[in-house]
Amino acid sequence: MNDIVEKARQHFGKLVEEQLERVEQMKKAADWTDYSKLKPIIIGIAGGDGIGPYITKHAQTILEFLLKDEIANGKVTLRIIEGLTIENRAKNMKAIPDDVLVQLKECNVILKGPTHTPRKGDGWPNIESANVTMRRELDLFANVRPVKVPELGIDWMFFRENTEGAYVLGSKGINITDDLAIDFKVITEQGSDRIIRLAFDYAARNNINRVSVVTKANVVKATDGKFLAMAEKIAKEYPQVKWDDWYIDIATAKLVDPARQRDFKVFVAPNLYGDIITDEAAQIQGGVGTAGSANIGKQYAMFEAIHGTAPRMVEEGRAVYADPSSIIKAAALLLNHIGFNEKGRKLEMALDICAQFEAKMKITGRDNGATGEEYAKYIMETIQDPNLEQKWKSYQ
Ligand code: IPM
Ligand code: MG
Repeated sequence: MNDIVEKARQHFGKLVEEQLERVEQMKKAADWTDYSKLKPIIIGIAGGDGIGPYITKHAQTILEFLLKDEIANGKVTLRIIEGLTIENRAKNMKAIPDDVLVQLKECNVILKGPTHTPRKGDGWPNIESANVTMRRELDLFANVRPVKVPELGIDWMFFRENTEGAYVLGSKGINITDDLAIDFKVITEQGSDRIIRLAFDYAARNNINRVSVVTKANVVKATDGKFLAMAEKIAKEYPQVKWDDWYIDIATAKLVDPARQRDFKVFVAPNLYGDIITDEAAQIQGGVGTAGSANIGKQYAMFEAIHGTAPRMVEEGRAVYADPSSIIKAAALLLNHIGFNEKGRKLEMALDICAQFEAKMKITGRDNGATGEEYAKYIMETIQDPNLEQKWKSYQ
């Protein structure tokens, strides 16, 4: 009995040391990258697993098309990064093999296809998720996920904390005995400060008068309590932005309440709540295949689809029919982030027109729908329409 407790104590002690060290690193974090000063801006492209390479290829084609001049004059370089596959990760027994991590860190921004997240008993070694590792290694603390449903008046922006919460020690819990398992959740002052501030800044900059903070602070008192207390403190610096706080359960319910959903604007939440609520939001928009996700840190940023690898689609030979919208939306977020806002906006307008307004073709994930390639072509044709802006406005 004493041995067991002592072992757990040591394990916990090590985790505390690591987390205190992480706090020190956060205090020292570099300033935001200024992309206008970089030449070239290196965009890494990692296809990932399952349908990942199929859909990422289309997003790459669209980036090459939109950045033709910048690639030609050396302002932008696209770099393909192999080796983020589950096969290679399993071979190296690492969530991100060392040489792949070095390559990723040589890029400024990354477009990433979905990567298989192993779980116990699925035939792969139960290594940590590549997403979670990348977010932590590149300190991508903000997971920014926009969701829009114009016909319902929904225009939401989610700021999900991306480097701590239930995730940071998600692979470092302890099976104390066969009867007892314990996981850990971490919230820090610095980690909460930077994500909450980003959400309030975004609201203030865009004249949005509402930030909703989502926690379960009534039950999870230390960590969620801290997150909420930080929100209270930071909100005082933004007197022009109204804010409210919600518990995750009722927030989840209100998101599907037609009487209330359009009142929400900007959300900020710890990691796991943000994970869950953004899938729900994406589903309201038309499915997780339709939402893009930006993982932003001060030095690096990574853009990805919010959905998984859909292995069944690949097994059934349907990968060419996979919807590339989510990763293409991620590419639009990438363009905005590195300063090509006009190109990003065009791509976003084209995505709206193709998916929601004009919708000349539908993606069904099966052979009764368009292929990803046909759909990407449709998007590029739409971007080239000289009346793109008017067309988009006419649907608003
Ligand atoms: C997401 C995904 C990931 C997460 C998985 C794949 C680890 O669900 O990006 O939302 O939980 O963050
Ligand atoms: Mg998720």
